[in-house]
Amino acid sequence: MIFTGVVLILGSCAIPDRKYSEELKHDIPVHQFTGDLDMYKSPSIETYGENANYNNNMGSRHPVAGTIPRGFMPYMYPNTNEGYMMAGDSLRNPYSNTPENLAKGADIYTKFCLHCHGTTGAGDGPVITNSNGKFPPPTSYIDGVSSGGGDMKDLPVGKMFHTITYGRNMMGSHASQITAEERWKVILHIQALINQGQRASAESGTDESETANEEETSAAVEAEAEEEQTETEENE
Ligand code: HEC
Repeated sequence: MIFTGVVLILGSCAIPDRKYSEELKHDIPVHQFTGDLDMYKSPSIETYGENANYNNNMGSRHPVAGTIPRGFMPYMYPNTNEGYMMAGDSLRNPYSNTPENLAKGADIYTKFCLHCHGTTGAGDGPVITNSNGKFPPPTSYIDGVSSGGGDMKDLPVGKMFHTITYGRNMMGSHASQITAEERWKVILHIQALINQGQRASAESGTDESETANEEETSAAVEAEAEEEQTETEENE
């Protein structure tokens, strides 16, 4: 019953002899109630729109040369060996070893560096070990020698920052992937890895002359590494 009623009511709208005023047809604009057309079609320059006042006809302008975005700190050292050495001599890490900073650094390392540099920084990440020798391993942070000279364990933080910013030989630039702040924090993590590696070899008394008990030694290193792993997990 209700259904029939609805059909009847709707049907009544379509009574053929009922005529609507022509003015009520919405597709034909009849009156415009504003004083002038500008209210509808604004003459102001639209964002990213056209602007005939400029040669290239574009509304957006280039920033003035040398403009620095808010919160961005330009990196002053050029991508040259001199720049690398200068960065090494003069840059200091503005972030300290707080648990938060270290945790952030470890997170960045896991996401952007571990696949090449390896969990402990020995240069044995999965990209290297699975490449069948196609990718030469990165120098070990713990006992390697930097291609720029000096032991990796003593590598100045400025050289690290420079390398992460511009890349170095087989390592690409990470400047577009991680911010300067993240670069400094991942450096804290690298230094923590260096300290861990150093402690592990010092405590196990590794020494080239002691090859006789090599097996024992590597077992001790592994045990130590495991212990440290648990320690870090507990600290997190
Ligand atoms: C594609 C593999 C790869 C990735 C990813 C990678 N590295 Fe490297 N890294 C290398 C190689 C290879 C070297 C050795 C470069 C050389 O000196 O010839 C190196 C060297 C370094 C050095 C030593 C630079 C010096 O002055 O001797 C540091 C520090 C470093 N990497 C940090 C990082 C950090 C931090 C990340 C992550 C943000 C990272 N790397 C990601 C491959 C990689």
